[in-house]
Amino acid sequence: MLLALAATIQLSSAETILGAYVFHRHGDRTAKSTPPSSLTDLGYVEVNGHGSYYNSRYIANSSAARILGIESDVVKLSQLAVSSPSDNVLQNSAAGWLQGLYPPAGYASNQTLRNGSKVESPLNGFQLIPISITSTNGGSENSQWLQGATNCQNAESSSNDFFNSDLFNSYQSSSLDLYRSVSPAVNGTFNESQLTFKNAYTIWDLLNVALIHNSTDSNPALADVSTDTMHQLFLLANIHEYNLAYNSTDAVRAISGAVLAGQVLTALNSTITGNGKSKLNVQFGAYGTFLSYFGLAGLPPTNAIFTGIPDYASSMAWELVTNATVSANGDFPSTSDISVRFLFNNGTSSSSADLTPYALFGGSSIEIPWDDFVSQTQKFAVTDQQQWCSLCGNTDGACASNTTSSGSGSSTPAAASSSNGSGISTAVAGVIGAMVTLGVILGLEALILLLGGLRLVKKGASAAALSTNGAAEK
Ligand SMILES: *[C@@H]1O[C@H](CO)[C@@H](O)[C@H](O)[C@H]1NC(C)=O
Ligand SMILES: *[C@@H]1O[C@H](CO)[C@@H](O)[C@H](O)[C@H]1NC(C)=O
Ligand SMILES: *[C@@H]1O[C@H](CO)[C@@H](O)[C@H](O)[C@H]1NC(C)=O
Ligand SMILES: *[C@@H]1O[C@H](CO)[C@@H](O)[C@H](O)[C@H]1NC(C)=O
Ligand SMILES: *[C@@H]1O[C@H](CO)[C@@H](O)[C@H](O)[C@H]1NC(C)=O
Ligand SMILES: *[C@@H]1O[C@H](CO)[C@@H](O)[C@H](O)[C@H]1NC(C)=O
Ligand SMILES: *[C@@H]1O[C@H](CO)[C@@H](O)[C@H](O)[C@H]1NC(C)=O
Repeated sequence: MLLALAATIQLSSAETILGAYVFHRHGDRTAKSTPPSSLTDLGYVEVNGHGSYYNSRYIANSSAARILGIESDVVKLSQLAVSSPSDNVLQNSAAGWLQGLYPPAGYASNQTLRNGSKVESPLNGFQLIPISITSTNGGSENSQWLQGATNCQNAESSSNDFFNSDLFNSYQSSSLDLYRSVSPAVNGTFNESQLTFKNAYTIWDLLNVALIHNSTDSNPALADVSTDTMHQLFLLANIHEYNLAYNSTDAVRAISGAVLAGQVLTALNSTITGNGKSKLNVQFGAYGTFLSYFGLAGLPPTNAIFTGIPDYASSMAWELVTNATVSANGDFPSTSDISVRFLFNNGTSSSSADLTPYALFGGSSIEIPWDDFVSQTQKFAVTDQQQWCSLCGNTDGACASNTTSSGSGSSTPAAASSSNGSGISTAVAGVIGAMVTLGVILGLEALILLLGGLRLVKKGASAAALSTNGAAEK
């Protein structure tokens, strides 16, 4: 009685969070130009810490922002959906983050057998949480050029157009001296002709990683790369990546953000229609998807920071909130009483893991009524395969099959199946304009890997051989 009373008082007092969608970047990793990229111990610590932050916000009993009815100690898998592209860095980041979200439960995780003995799960009640694999959003950290991994033909050619733009050409020539100046530090990876704005991200990334991890003994020239030089290289990388991810007059370029927007809409809608059966959705993905979404959601015009690459372990969250009186077992309030709030945390660039709310769609209110959020999001979101295929102009892979049988209920676009057939051709298409640096540096090696991978697939044709063969992507 007392407990029930306490619960009612607590819940009816203020705002309640009914559910949330989180999109998260990985932690510190090795450089893209020294593949395969892997999550470092530092990165593991970072994502784990951010997982703990989300525990303290959404999960912990004591949190005022706890998601209504979510299990606070031992995870209930039906309440949680976690996904990541098939990628070492992102999958391991998701796993490390989950250890913080639902830490080992100790005795709370004990189960009692029929014969009365109690079993505690290994590692002090470590909680196993599956991570499903998404084939959307081009999140592979082994991909030098993120757009290339989306498999969306029109988006790739749109991003390639950036390399013919006036903007690109002006930076390409104005930055030559800067890039030449770092040659001694990166000449093991980039030759003179590759040291240009065209490789702005991978050059900055290589140096950024080296300045965190590599000793001066291993590369004395690193000591000559000043903080100011790194800052300039980072600003150029931001311009490069933002323009590859978003162009206000060419919507398809932001395909990964459009797909994410569709996924957020679908997931939050099912939290509402299912009265909170599913409560928390988490997806790990690449900074390019952040940038695409920022552009589509109208964030940069009101806040220029949103044209910058989010740092390691950054995350954005969409929360369903209500001021109506609700109880954990009751029905949700009507959608007119539900709003969406967007929040962002700039990962390791921020002094804390706290999320900061921002107004979406160029508006001024932090809380957006659900119906407005839906109509604004639908202006750019891609919510099904057919829409994806027509926007991308793809006719192969998943786009070749008939469009009426959508298969299993949820219609998240499968992004032209990451099967090898289409993967190779799109990778080749990407090379033409975007000059996937690795293809040039390790041209022969990649070719050998690619041929080796194909042989593997022909022999085994096993799912494992297909999914572990990332060579085509590189
Ligand atoms: C959280 O609340 C539940 C239900 O009231 C309780 O069983 C559990 O022990 C609490 N957990 C913590 C860490 O306080
Ligand atoms: C109870 O059952 C488990 C699993 O079959 C077994 O390992 C354990 O020894 C049993 N305990 C007792 C006291 O019989
Ligand atoms: C943006 O798209 C327009 C229209 O396709 C194109 O003319 C322009 O060059 C693009 N700008 C950049 C920076 O890619
Ligand atoms: C890179 O430049 C440094 C300093 O100029 C030089 O000592 C080194 O031999 C160069 N390495 C390569 C691979 O060219
Ligand atoms: C940093 O170290 C890694 C691993 O040894 C190496 O592959 C990479 O080229 C180094 N980077 C620089 C800029 O020296
Ligand atoms: C939400 O889900 C319901 C039930 O599946 C569906 O009828 C409705 O169109 C969905 N709304 C949005 C915005 O996706
Ligand atoms: C995140 O931090 C980076 C580095 O400080 C900055 O360039 C970028 O604009 C920031 N982005 C946002 C959205 O705060």
